[in-house]
Amino acid sequence: GGDRGGRGGRGGRGGAGGRGGFRGGKKAIVEPHQRLEGVFIARGKEDALVTKNLVPGESVYGEKRVSIDEENGKIEYRIWNPFRSKLGAAILGGVEDIHITPGSKVLYLGAASGTTVSHVSDIVGPEGRVYAVEFSHRSGRDLLGVAQKRPNIVPIIEDARHPHKYRMVMSMVDTIFADVAQPDQARIVTLNAQHFLKVGGHVVISIKANCIDSTAPAEAVFAQEVKKLQLDKVKPLEQVTLEPYERDHAVVVGIFRN
Ligand SMILES: C[S@@+](CC[C@H](N)C(=O)[O-])C[C@H]1O[C@@H](n2cnc3c(N)ncnc32)[C@H](O)[C@@H]1O
Repeated sequence: GGDRGGRGGRGGRGGAGGRGGFRGGKKAIVEPHQRLEGVFIARGKEDALVTKNLVPGESVYGEKRVSIDEENGKIEYRIWNPFRSKLGAAILGGVEDIHITPGSKVLYLGAASGTTVSHVSDIVGPEGRVYAVEFSHRSGRDLLGVAQKRPNIVPIIEDARHPHKYRMVMSMVDTIFADVAQPDQARIVTLNAQHFLKVGGHVVISIKANCIDSTAPAEAVFAQEVKKLQLDKVKPLEQVTLEPYERDHAVVVGIFRN
């Protein structure tokens, strides 16, 4: 379909849902995303990407919330800023599938303070699980705070290069999302896939070209990363660039097979 879910960031940096465009109440309209189960679009002066708040009444990183009156009471959504989330940017960039839906088990590598993790937690909902790996203790402290309020997040303060260190808390997952911004990211992802990803599961990887090679053209870096994934049994399915939200970034989606 032609509608890719609205360009939330039209108002510039941080513009998604900014300026009090969403007061909630009867006037706000929230529609399911055309393809992505668990993802929603709030229609207003500016459309915004939103997820259904797992913990109504609470923001995670100062994001705005939209409350909608429904027959069975109020439902609250949180505005997802694509300038602060590569997964959000990929969705607004028209990615076909993120392979994260209500009930999914997701291994999230490079969780940082939990900004995007919180939206993934909203999407997978109470039946799902997000294993969130972050090796920086400083970011990890915020991540632990987010996980304390969200029972479906398992925070893991470890180096994603050493999956055996967290195997005790893991189950097999449906999808690995990676945003570690490291030169050896492809290896980190496939190593974790070998440990924890179901056969037929998916990887969704954000690639920042200049983290891997700051001299080669971005497109060449993306192609080189895809080749590395292929050698380790990840078959590429699609690739989107994250313009206008990030420069020289791509998100690559692949399927893991044996
Ligand atoms: C680009 S930031 C992630 C932003 C986050 N995904 C978001 O959308 O909110 C990359 C993060 O990966 C973490 N990281 C890098 N290498 C890592 C590793 N080997 N193991 C675990 N975390 C790592 C960094 O500390 C940093 O917090």
